[in-house]
Amino acid sequence: MAAPGRRPLVSGNWKMHHDHVQAIRTVQDLGLRLQPADVAALDVSVHPPFTDLRSVQTVIEDRAIPVALGAQHCHHQDQGAFTGEVAPPMLARLGVRYVIVGHSERRQFFGQTDEEVALVLRAVLRHGMTPIVCVGESEEEREAGVTHDRLTAQATAALGGLPAQQVAALVVAYEPIWAIGTGRTAEAADAQAACAHIRSVVAAVADAEAAGAVRIQYGGSVKPDNTAELMAQPDVDGLLVGGASLEAATFASIVTHAGGR
Ligand code: PGA
Repeated sequence: MAAPGRRPLVSGNWKMHHDHVQAIRTVQDLGLRLQPADVAALDVSVHPPFTDLRSVQTVIEDRAIPVALGAQHCHHQDQGAFTGEVAPPMLARLGVRYVIVGHSERRQFFGQTDEEVALVLRAVLRHGMTPIVCVGESEEEREAGVTHDRLTAQATAALGGLPAQQVAALVVAYEPIWAIGTGRTAEAADAQAACAHIRSVVAAVADAEAAGAVRIQYGGSVKPDNTAELMAQPDVDGLLVGGASLEAATFASIVTHAGGR
């Protein structure tokens, strides 16, 4: 289990699924399923598409659903001529608490670079939200035995130069690309080794205190039946769930298992 002081965070990344009507139903259903005891010892966030954010915010507030609102991406500037983009203050104004930054799908399909990831991360922090910074190796990198080098490079590029206090308060997600949406979950021991490595990188770029405090999630084909084993790893402080977060019943079951219930 996560060290005392690191409150686990279980996040549902809906990606490009659920219009606002489906989103309202899903979050209402989640609210009916999650019992206070399920969330007593952990935090939960949902990350719907941009068009759903306002609707989901309203449902969460009206029904006092114990789930934080999250976003999947944003631009690093506060405003400007950036057709199709969404600015961090727009998210903050909607009550967004967590923003996924540098997801491998943004890096892979939209050309997001390490430099952009670092800029977005800082913009999210500037607006009082918590970034969930994604790092992870590809299948080829894994086979070439350079997983840890890749994680070091990505985490250093994202976090280098930030005050240790800010690093301590953010979230890193270890997401091996070969495990995302494939049904191939990382072995719990491999997830642990990677998360422990990321923590050592945080100690190097920030300090030991930040490394002890930063929350590190695992993501990639998380399901209700592999949740407990992943969460039992000492350096795994939560989960970033894609496909299995789309249905309230499945996601609620992951949250319940993550809480050890
Ligand atoms: P998955 O996605 O759970 O569908 O594998 C995880 C993610 O991309 O965050």
